[in-house]
Amino acid sequence: MSITRICCIGAGYVGGPTMAVIAKKCPHIKVTVVDLNEQRIAAWNDPDVNNIPVYEPGLSEVVAEARGRNLFFSTDVEAAIDEAQMIFISVNTPTKTYGAGKGQAADLKWIELCARQIARVAKDDKIIVEKSTLPVRTASAIRDIITHTGSGVHFQILSNPEFLAEGTAMEDLDAPDRVLIGGDSTPEGQVAVKALVEVYANWIPQERILTTNVWSSELSKLTANAFLAQRVSSINSLTELCEKTEADISEVARAIGTDSRIGPKFLKASVGFGGSCFQKDILNLVYIARSYGLQETADYWEQVIIMNDHQKKRFANQMIKNLYNTVNGKKIAFLGWAFKKDTNDTRESAAIYVADHLLYEQADISVYDPKVPERQVYADLDYLVSRSPEENKKGVKVVEDPYEACKDAHAIAVLTEWEEFKNYDWQRIYDSMLKPAKIFDGRNLLDAEKLRAIGFQVRSIGSTL
Ligand code: NAD
Ligand code: UDX
Repeated sequence: MSITRICCIGAGYVGGPTMAVIAKKCPHIKVTVVDLNEQRIAAWNDPDVNNIPVYEPGLSEVVAEARGRNLFFSTDVEAAIDEAQMIFISVNTPTKTYGAGKGQAADLKWIELCARQIARVAKDDKIIVEKSTLPVRTASAIRDIITHTGSGVHFQILSNPEFLAEGTAMEDLDAPDRVLIGGDSTPEGQVAVKALVEVYANWIPQERILTTNVWSSELSKLTANAFLAQRVSSINSLTELCEKTEADISEVARAIGTDSRIGPKFLKASVGFGGSCFQKDILNLVYIARSYGLQETADYWEQVIIMNDHQKKRFANQMIKNLYNTVNGKKIAFLGWAFKKDTNDTRESAAIYVADHLLYEQADISVYDPKVPERQVYADLDYLVSRSPEENKKGVKVVEDPYEACKDAHAIAVLTEWEEFKNYDWQRIYDSMLKPAKIFDGRNLLDAEKLRAIGFQVRSIGSTL
């Protein structure tokens, strides 16, 4: 079976870039990305590719090349389902905010809606691909929903989790460490697996395409994110001890990272991990383990989140303590609001929680981020419902110029590791600030020695220098 028509439900941070790359690498396949969100689709179709809704280095160029040729963005979900041989489900699966499993389980309502819609619309056999990150055994629920339609249509369900990281999505999609495809061991299941393998084989070496059963594939995605987040929490868990003992976390990370069994990646101490995946997926893993009565497994992974929450709170508290135990009425500049560099995504960004904590203490915050617009900063704060939107607007200003953000500030908090921060005129910033001018580098990004030579007081994470 050779695939020539693909549809992807969900035009977000995964659906958009992933399908753009499939369209680029497979010009013989028509790829249609659909979404209920009309504004989002309109932005993907904006004639000026700089206005597409997801910022990723290299993405706009690929969209410019493939859009209108074999890449299409549409709100007509049913037409796209009808036409496709293979349907990727790439909708959001956030943590539940209500009912059983509130605050831990994944909310699968959008997945179920997709399954029901596919079952209703499909007139011929389809391969359904789980691209969203899902709890292990979700494919069995999807199968249950779609096989009782009585339409005679046959469906195969594959799990094909996405491992891209935001900010490097295009590189990750272009040359992934591996692509994982889980399918049924039945002959029909294996035909479906082969069809998806052939799509990826257009640009990915066969040895990097791993095939497993569906359940291993679903669980591997949660496990990969849990392991990655655990590394960040592990290194962060030692930052406080470094600060107390004059050890330096960057030196410790370098020392342990040269052990080939440990490896150097993902050992950067920080104000805490953010992003839409790590917390959500670990909470989900914890919930699943508890639902099977596996208390020790659940407790083990929950600690990764507890440590991350502690790190964010600790950073904010350290700022307050260092600012003579009061930030009331003091201007604090935030450099960065996105959860990491090279993305406009702010979901679960540590900056949101640090801001919330400082706002309790009635600080005046001034935010600059090169890619995050003002409305998003307020939307993030309003979502916390800690205070009214009017109060958030009063406490937080969003500016488009970093020098304006820092002018007359008592302190600067570096919350995202944007490269451009390194190249600022730091003497000019120092001159414009209230003294003593303080920098709390939540990313260990800046050259602390150079800044101290100018006159700044600098606090990095995990070091007493
Ligand atoms: P997103 O919120 O950016 O995009 C999801 C889109 O799906 C939204 O635009 C929403 O309007 C649309 N949608 C929801 N229900 C729909 C429906 N019934 N019909 C049509 N459209 C619908 O989410 P995302 O970041 O792209 O993540 C999608 C999935 O991929 C999640 O399960 C996530 O865990 C997983 N994932 C995300 C990343 C990442 O870096 N963001 C990486 C790997 C995996
Ligand atoms: C993550 C996974 O890496 C990716 O494989 C998965 O598909 C989606 O979730 P993402 O959240 O986009 O990707 O970015 P990632 O690079 O993993 O960073 C997550 C958070 O951890 C960021 O806030 C980042 O700043 C932080 N981090 C990462 C650290 O604090 N230190 C590190 O050493 C690495």
